[in-house]
Amino acid sequence: MQVLTLTRPDDWHLHLRDHEQMRAVVNDTARQFARAIIMPNLVPPITRCEQALRYRQRILSALNPAYSFEPLMTLYLTDSLSVVEIKSAAESPFIHAAKLYPAGATTNSDAGVTHIDKIQSVLEAMQKYDLPLLVHGEETTSSVDIFDREKVFIDNTLIKIRQQYPELRIVFEHITTTEAVDYVLSENAKTAATITAHHLLINRNDLFKGGMNPHHYCLPVVKRERHRLALLNAASQHPGKFFAGTDSAPHAQHAKESACGCAGIYTAHAAIELYAEAFDQSNDFTNFEAFMSISGAKFYQLPVNQQSITLIRRSWKMPDKLSFGEQSLIPFKAGQNINWTLTNSNEK
Ligand code: DOR
Ligand code: ZN
Repeated sequence: MQVLTLTRPDDWHLHLRDHEQMRAVVNDTARQFARAIIMPNLVPPITRCEQALRYRQRILSALNPAYSFEPLMTLYLTDSLSVVEIKSAAESPFIHAAKLYPAGATTNSDAGVTHIDKIQSVLEAMQKYDLPLLVHGEETTSSVDIFDREKVFIDNTLIKIRQQYPELRIVFEHITTTEAVDYVLSENAKTAATITAHHLLINRNDLFKGGMNPHHYCLPVVKRERHRLALLNAASQHPGKFFAGTDSAPHAQHAKESACGCAGIYTAHAAIELYAEAFDQSNDFTNFEAFMSISGAKFYQLPVNQQSITLIRRSWKMPDKLSFGEQSLIPFKAGQNINWTLTNSNEK
């Protein structure tokens, strides 16, 4: 395959941060994607609709006016979020989901949910008003091995949520294991999952190859090769249940390259090309468009985009670093060759 033409994709899981940092990264996504689900883990988190709408305005004001990009906003669930807020979110044309971060699971999750029992009425309201639940699916009990946290979360929490709320639409975010793939496939169309480009491209050896590499550290942490292959198989062979969500998560270089490096990999700059590289490994682009551009829109009950994009097999070199406000940002695959080039940006 030398040329790929497909409907313009959306990114169903994106971190943009705020203010100067957001302004530094938002157009990387807007150049590639038509829409993105914007994660609410700011400090303080986006827990009210009114905050989400103001954040949306800040994003819109930072956009390059040449691009036609729509941010799809989300709320951050806490132990004390009210049912009224869920109802307002479901009624808003700008808010599309609420995100469950188990407290302590990842970056800026301290205000997250301490136990699922604390949000029963909220989950009930989400089911009733049909607001999708986005899940960071990792068990946070510190005695659970970091490589097992996703599987334990499925067994201890996700299965229960699904049993209690059979009509709730659930996106299992950034899945990393064969167990998560199997779980999503075993459920009906109300359960779907996002898969990142980096989890399709690297395994846990890449965290340590040639020395510890903080730019390959994210949460959930990358797993064994057999899990990566299961993700690649899910993305390329099971259209409908799995879709692209980059989890592109910018952190300043100094915050990554430190004694306590932050979790997050920045892929927004070349996300579509990176997904094409991953699909290349499966040698099968049949379902590339479904994964990138169709299945997510259908799950969110949004129209599929009208425009199309073209990728050609032509290599280019990823910059060593990008600017991130006053700081710098090291992109995924910094300094390496990328085999695909997106030929047209998301212009109006
Ligand atoms: O690696 C990650 N970074 N995983 C997350 O769940 C959050 C994200 C971030 O916000 O930096
Ligand atoms: Zn994320």
